[in-house]
Amino acid sequence: LVLILDFGSQYTHLITRRIRQLSVLSLCVSGTTPLDAIAKLKPRVVILSGGPHSVHAAGAPSFSDGFIEYAEENGVFVLGICYGMQLIVQKLGGVVAVGEKQEYGKMEIAVAEGECGLYGPEAVGGHQTVWMSHGDEAVKLPEGFTVVARSLQGSVAAIENRSRRFFGLQYHPEVTHSPQGMDTLRHFLLDVCGISADWKMQDVLEEEIKVIKGMVRPDEHVICALSGGVDSTVAATLVHKAIGDRLHCVFVDNGLLRYKERERVMSTFQSDLHLPVTCIDASEQFLSKLKGVKDPEMKRKIIGREFICIFDDFAQELEQKVGKRPTFLVQGTLYPDVIESCPPPGSGMTHSHTIKSHHNVGGLPKDMKLKLIEPLKFLFKDEVRKLGSILNVPELFLRRHPFPGPGLAVRVLGDVTEGNALEILRQVDEIFIQSIRDAGLYDSIWQAFAVFLPVQSVGVQGDQRTHSHVVVLRAITSEDGMTADWYYFDHKFLVDVVRKICNNVRGVNRVCQDITSKPPATVEWE
Ligand code: XMP
Repeated sequence: LVLILDFGSQYTHLITRRIRQLSVLSLCVSGTTPLDAIAKLKPRVVILSGGPHSVHAAGAPSFSDGFIEYAEENGVFVLGICYGMQLIVQKLGGVVAVGEKQEYGKMEIAVAEGECGLYGPEAVGGHQTVWMSHGDEAVKLPEGFTVVARSLQGSVAAIENRSRRFFGLQYHPEVTHSPQGMDTLRHFLLDVCGISADWKMQDVLEEEIKVIKGMVRPDEHVICALSGGVDSTVAATLVHKAIGDRLHCVFVDNGLLRYKERERVMSTFQSDLHLPVTCIDASEQFLSKLKGVKDPEMKRKIIGREFICIFDDFAQELEQKVGKRPTFLVQGTLYPDVIESCPPPGSGMTHSHTIKSHHNVGGLPKDMKLKLIEPLKFLFKDEVRKLGSILNVPELFLRRHPFPGPGLAVRVLGDVTEGNALEILRQVDEIFIQSIRDAGLYDSIWQAFAVFLPVQSVGVQGDQRTHSHVVVLRAITSEDGMTADWYYFDHKFLVDVVRKICNNVRGVNRVCQDITSKPPATVEWE
């Protein structure tokens, strides 16, 4: 195991992911995790992440007392990255000071000649481009350390003390702007630390099934709300494999789904995955509660509340049917949510769990007292897709763009029940998405959708003056939805798609494209 101690760097997740890409299991915990908790995990390598602080700042985070001794006594290899390297230097008796020149962005480094721990034979004596982002630098190394790379400006870029197993990189090997960074990590972890690259998704699957079988007693029942998204579907499929039909899933049609969405996802759940799923058509219920409501937050709250009522009823009916209260709830929580929910002290990061729960279904009734099964909580999105693939979830399904919990309600601005707004939006969205698929662009776009505006504009169609609706097309690229760029379609694609929409969707005479990035806009319009 490679354990990452997080000191607040924006790249900490990336280090974890990069190491997993080498087929090595890595986990990330807060930098201040107590020593006994670290020891329980028995890491062979500990990586100290970067962070926004200076080691001299008041309250600058550091590892627990006794960590250095623990590492040395247990033969643990320690690699510090950026702030992590400065911590090593400072704690082992060297000096870190404000650098003469600050180094930000792409830099050239020269790797020293001769055998070393951090660089393989192909890298020694050569130059590399790396990504730096630091103000402080190591000006005096602790005893026994050598410099194995310097920036061309002369500052220390990599250090090591092989006999004590301490290593440090002043730059970020995990980012793509350090093109040889992965080679450095591979050489260090596999060749120097002797870690085996044998972490496989198949093992994760088998381990999770074992854990779930141990958790859920033979007379216990489990419930799961399927949203039609990748995470809840993969989580449910995995739990189903472990406990069979003691899993009970529910899929709610809230009347805010896309074109033929209910049929499409239900067919995947039933025909491809054989999941025990009840489909509840609650569209009337949702839409009647949303009638006349224009405020975006109010719309979200109403949808969240209705969902809870339906889920509660489902659990009660199940209790009557199987004669026992369900005891567990499956959730498709992913690793980034888990990491972000315990930010390192002093990092200034917010408690993003609260942000996410509003993004999901709005929380579940408190008195249900369900225990959670979160089989994906140590995985990143791309790993969930791999797991889904092993579980035979169709590829087309695994690559679906994200879709918000409140569905089309956040894409029809204002009152969603007015006129045939939802119907128009479904048709426009379907044409747009199908055109994107036909052009082979679906997988290059992170998310694409249409928005319905509650305004009308004047047009002319077939020699007739029209006064019809305006729709907006939005397509973005993004890593995680937190920031986004708008996607640049070529001219012909746009011309074709606008023609198809205006020719096929009654009531639309104007199509706009949203070319705003996030920030300042959000991805959704409400
Ligand atoms: P925003 O609009 O916040 O969207 O920039 C970022 C990503 O989150 C999705 N989104 C939601 N997902 N429930 C969800 O499950 C929600 O209430 C919700 N609001 C936005 C959005 O589609 C985008 O992928």
